[in-house]
Amino acid sequence: MNPDVGGLFASEEELKGIVARLGREITADYAGKNPLFVGVLRGCFIFMADLVRACDIDCTVDFMVVSSYGKGTSSTGAVKIIKDLSENIENRDVIIVEDILDSGNTLSYLKKYMLARKPASIRIVTLLDKPDRRTADVKADYVGFTIPDAFVVGYGLDYQEKYRNLPYIGYLKPEIYS
Ligand code: IMP
Ligand code: MG
Repeated sequence: MNPDVGGLFASEEELKGIVARLGREITADYAGKNPLFVGVLRGCFIFMADLVRACDIDCTVDFMVVSSYGKGTSSTGAVKIIKDLSENIENRDVIIVEDILDSGNTLSYLKKYMLARKPASIRIVTLLDKPDRRTADVKADYVGFTIPDAFVVGYGLDYQEKYRNLPYIGYLKPEIYS
């Protein structure tokens, strides 16, 4: 294990099982449809790559890049769009793919932003949910797993852009960010 990681939240094997379960749920719910997965970069990149391969349906993908964080471990509240949608989402069944739902600022902003573009439907899938820290009124439709209030890294999630490549999810030792 990486020496900066204090403990595991989900091993590589556990992540596989969780993503497979989410894939089965989405496959069942979107049978006969052609949803557009919109990944929120950069944190979603590994999760989304695995998730779409776990979904046995026709689908297309798009990405947005947003930034709500400075260099710290809590949201600044302001969401900035750095890369917008490339696809027209009007009348599409949109599934927003996030790595983690924390304060909810990012997803509540993005959901409103996309609803204004008149999709047929919009749902949210997040790998991790930290409900204790929620301040915005937003809920995910599909949740990989719920975690307590700790800062986690790996499987796409970073601290100051590091640790995204770890194949597991672990919590960072507090001395790394304090
Ligand atoms: P929210 O807008 O506060 O819900 O924050 C969502 C974003 O904050 C996520 O997409 C992540 O990029 C980042 N984030 C929140 N908690 C963590 C964490 O524990 N580790 C790494 N990134 C996090
Ligand atoms: Mg993110």
